[in-house]
Amino acid sequence: MSDAPVIIRVRDNGPYVVEGPVQVLDAEGKPFPIPAGKPAFALCRCGHSKTKPFCDGSHRTAGFHAAERAPSA
Ligand code: FES
Repeated sequence: MSDAPVIIRVRDNGPYVVEGPVQVLDAEGKPFPIPAGKPAFALCRCGHSKTKPFCDGSHRTAGFHAAERAPSA
């Protein structure tokens, strides 16, 4: 893994978009395959994806609404 920072962007009404050198592990510690060469991937936070833990776009038809903002520093 590189020293590049990991960035997680919280999308309004959508997934967490993850950029950077990370692994996503299941409950047994086995890694989910992350497409090589893609700069980012999206993790579902609405609970409706059929490809959990990844977003499959189902949040759009599920009517998921969330638009949190980080507190001011
Ligand atoms: S956030 Fe996209 S399917 Fe759940």
